[in-house]
Amino acid sequence: MPIEQANCMRRFVRMCADAWEQGWHESNAGNLSYRLDEEDIRVCMPFFSIKGEGHEWHGLGFADSDLAGQFFMVTAGGSPLRKVGIDPAINCGVVEIDGEGKAWRKVWGLKGTHPTSEFSSHLLAHAVFIRETDGDNRVVYHAHAPNVTALSLLLEPDEAQWNRALWGVMTEVIMLAPQGVGVLPWMLPGSKELAVRTAAKLEAHDAVVWTQHGIIVREQTFDDAFGLAHAIEKAAGIYLNARAANGGHRPEHLVSPAQLAAICEKMGLDFDVSALAAPDE
Ligand code: 13P
Ligand code: ZN
Repeated sequence: MPIEQANCMRRFVRMCADAWEQGWHESNAGNLSYRLDEEDIRVCMPFFSIKGEGHEWHGLGFADSDLAGQFFMVTAGGSPLRKVGIDPAINCGVVEIDGEGKAWRKVWGLKGTHPTSEFSSHLLAHAVFIRETDGDNRVVYHAHAPNVTALSLLLEPDEAQWNRALWGVMTEVIMLAPQGVGVLPWMLPGSKELAVRTAAKLEAHDAVVWTQHGIIVREQTFDDAFGLAHAIEKAAGIYLNARAANGGHRPEHLVSPAQLAAICEKMGLDFDVSALAAPDE
């Protein structure tokens, strides 16, 4: 069995293809990472190599002992998500983190290339999840979701405003994201600051909007990560359409705070009404 048949690899490749089909990944936009579990490592280990050129250790620029010894499947910097399934060994790969959590090396794929330029954001996010005791988040996904990005041109980078808009669009959003989205102002793509601020937001939110850029989500599985990004992107699109149809004003019939509270009570979700902004115009 080639490594391409490994369960984690098939799911990784499938998610890249699904995401590409949504139109969220122009050129090399977006990136995906997955923290291998014990079974993945057992299945993939026979294909790993650390001999010869290209397998040197590279400093991460930070040290996080919670990442020590972990293996990550990750898209390559500059690679189109469209091509991950066509030529996985070039457009993605598996890296190992050293025993101190301060360096990485290739163990499979990433031929002639390196992990995504947002690797710091992915790794610091994974470190948050490793420290969590009540979850098993293994997937971090960044998309240039067009409606989310368009909405970031209209709304302030203010979580209350964003969640009033997104939760208000359709009842599904609060079910998938009862803690709402986190929102960051514009920051330099690939920067340490973006990585650190994103990881801090992901402690409280499963999705974070990057103003004028896109969205990053974290979830347990590929399906959950894709589903969350999809729901938020769809809600942003509906909100924009409704607002445009209403002469550019906030739609008048958003799902109300009372309705949101009723959904959360039925589903046993925590809901803080104070997380909603006063209606904007
Ligand atoms: P990479 O090609 O390095 O993954 O960059 C794409 C991107 O979306 C940066 O934010
Ligand atoms: Zn990006």
